[in-house]
Amino acid sequence: MSGAERETPMESELRALPKTDLHCHLDGSLRVETALELAAGRKLKLPADTADELRPFLTVAPTCASLKEFLDVFQLIYPLLRDSSALERIAYELCEDCSAENIRHVEVRFAPLLQARSKFPPEEVIEAVLRGLSRGLADFEVTSGVIICLFRSHSARENAAAFRALKRFFKPGNGLSSPGVVGMDLAGDEARHPTMEFADFFDQARRLGIPATCHAGEVVGTENLKAAISLDVRRIGHGTHLFEDEQLLDEVIRRRVPLEVGITSNVRTKSVRSLRAHPVRRFFEAGVPITLNTDDRGIIGIDLTHEYRAAAELGFSFEELAGLSLASVDHLFLPEADRRRLRASFQAEIARLKKKPLRRP
Ligand code: ADE
Ligand code: ZN
Repeated sequence: MSGAERETPMESELRALPKTDLHCHLDGSLRVETALELAAGRKLKLPADTADELRPFLTVAPTCASLKEFLDVFQLIYPLLRDSSALERIAYELCEDCSAENIRHVEVRFAPLLQARSKFPPEEVIEAVLRGLSRGLADFEVTSGVIICLFRSHSARENAAAFRALKRFFKPGNGLSSPGVVGMDLAGDEARHPTMEFADFFDQARRLGIPATCHAGEVVGTENLKAAISLDVRRIGHGTHLFEDEQLLDEVIRRRVPLEVGITSNVRTKSVRSLRAHPVRRFFEAGVPITLNTDDRGIIGIDLTHEYRAAAELGFSFEELAGLSLASVDHLFLPEADRRRLRASFQAEIARLKKKPLRRP
């Protein structure tokens, strides 16, 4: 994790920049110390008893070979999060972590069917998270919205239950004043479960006016990406492979569908060969709308400042990064009046920051 103590001036400026995180998994944001306490309080066994010893089990190693291996790390996390108090706590702590690096608005996503049990329905899962986010808003002034994930490896019946819960909580007016459910996502292993298997849910979401995003083109080719675009999603999770289909690339640019980029996540899942090989700069130069996000800050061991720094290493100037953080506001699942409010406050804060003389790497 990038500790504030050893930060370069550039990192300090990027930390101070007002930011949004549009692609942030709640369970993937769990702190190692919290995992230990949750396990102890629930008499659950973890492979180690101290934070330092547990960290390697709860973080994805650079040697991780695939998205499947990346997602396997979550198997240790799921059993810790099957009650209201655990979920409320980690949602609250996520707001605290966001406020430490001036993330002003976070869209938090999770698949409620991963936490739900027969006596713990998906609706209660969602309510617990919303309570944690509301406390986070009160204490840290971080505004938020919830994106409900359907999960690729879940049965049609499980995803139908998640979709019912989504419909119950979604309101088009859910905005900055209190955390609410604002959209839908499809997560999980796209290599094994193609997007088109879930077309019906995207069709229903569109008919109901529920904004959708979709993990696609993260680790395999462009079929899932093409399917997501044809299903009219408002944003794409990752889309790393977009350059493999020139026609689709043109369409994404023409329709201004933003990519939710997670640079280090993509390096860990082997979505890209290396940081240097990441196409984020080429996307930017080609005119693809992009946003920078953490994806899974806990299990990757990063924060959003780290991701902005990674983008700087790939050639983005501070001015360009400030422009990206501002433009991200336009892609939030929020009523336009709220986006306008947030944009104005970002603009004022960025203008103040630019007056300061630093900005050296
Ligand atoms: N769930 C958590 N992180 C994910 C990722 N990078 N891709 C798909 N599903 C995920
Ligand atoms: Zn993700």
